Amino acid sequence: TGGVTTIDPGYKNTGSCESAITFLDGEKGILRYRGYAIEDLADKADFLEVAYLLIFGELPTKEQLEKFHDDINAQSHVDEDVKKILDGFPKSAHPMGVLSSLTSALIAFNPSSVNVDSDEEMYNAIVRIMGKFPVLTAWAYRKRAGLPLDYGDDSLGYVDNFLKMMFKKPNGEYTSNKILVNALDKLLILHADHEQNCSTSTVRIVGSSHAGLFASLSAGINALWGPLHGGANQAVLEMLEAIKEDGGDTKKYMAKAKDKSDPFRLMGFGHRVYKNFDPRAKIIKVAADDVLNDLGVEDPILDIAKGLEREALEDSYFVDRKLYPNVDFYSGIIYRAMGIPVEMFTAMFALGRLPGWIAQWKEMRQRKEPIGRPRQVYIGENLRDFKDITKR
Ligand code: SDX
Repeated sequence: TGGVTTIDPGYKNTGSCESAITFLDGEKGILRYRGYAIEDLADKADFLEVAYLLIFGELPTKEQLEKFHDDINAQSHVDEDVKKILDGFPKSAHPMGVLSSLTSALIAFNPSSVNVDSDEEMYNAIVRIMGKFPVLTAWAYRKRAGLPLDYGDDSLGYVDNFLKMMFKKPNGEYTSNKILVNALDKLLILHADHEQNCSTSTVRIVGSSHAGLFASLSAGINALWGPLHGGANQAVLEMLEAIKEDGGDTKKYMAKAKDKSDPFRLMGFGHRVYKNFDPRAKIIKVAADDVLNDLGVEDPILDIAKGLEREALEDSYFVDRKLYPNVDFYSGIIYRAMGIPVEMFTAMFALGRLPGWIAQWKEMRQRKEPIGRPRQVYIGENLRDFKDITKR
């Protein structure tokens, strides 16, 4: 058999590790980071504070948070030669491919980040990537938009600084917008960690070979890119746009999603763990109304999304399979209202998930987890004699 007698496709019933970072209860729709309810964190904390909590295990004091932010800012410079790599991409390159490539490229410019044996080396690697990743994300956007690549302003908060890097005008003009900062803080907090999801498991297993943090994160970015995972937030908007073009005919798309011969799925619906509702989707749905109202944005797509949710929750196919809106269903509506293009939606998910990936990677390395190497049930050929090519 090759070692085992049963397999668990997709690891639906396999626990890969012990972890003290994030707790999910799929039946009750509970999500906690280091014991704190996601509802509290989304409402009362900011993203950098939650990043600190996930990575170091405690909510930071004011001084700890300021030092963390200062250390991140001190490491936010990206070597100018990285721009030459970015130059090599066509404008049409998907930001997730750009980000996984540039994150890997950072290793060459920060070779010491591979050593994480001491707490200080681990901390340095962490603040380096926390400083550089928002820059790379903003540059990926500006490359597509044909805008100059530059930095923000270290005197701003982490999220405001990122928005400045994204949206400052070529002449450098930028006006902080509290609505956008608060909306993005909340969204990034809601995306920050989610225990052993596909991309986090990828980051852990790559890191288990003692590949460096940046190499492991690059792999996680690629796993998140898939439309069944983080890429769903882009696929949701494309689906909702298609429904709008089709005159708002949600029933046709629900029928497609139920048709087994059709690979189409209702994007933004369903979850491996949440079998009642995704608590993040609940918070984001409310935030979508608030942000669009505050921004004075009328987006028919939001009403189409709400209509689709209503109809799906009354349809036995979805109810029987416990398919509810997940984190990706409403998030893109807010990103779009903020002026972020749909191709950047999954990159925004990566920006939010970065501290979670870092926290999980750090825990895996500090707990000295063994290299990830599952077994299989062999279903191939029995022993065969070699046949010379003249006899095949
Ligand atoms: C994320 O794991 C995480 O925590 C991920 C995430 C995180 O924070 O890291 O929460 C982020 O990735 C959210 C999920 C985003 N993906 C999507 O929205 C894509 C659409 N969703 C599906 O592909 C699916 O629901 C998954 C991938 C989310 C979950 O897949 P599972 O657990 O493997 O479920 P399954 O594919 O075995 O489906 C069970 C049944 C099947 O029908 P039957 O064969 O039993 O008849 O439900 C059906 C599926 O066909 N089904 C869907 C569906 N999702 C599942 N049918 C139509 N539309 C859907 N969206």
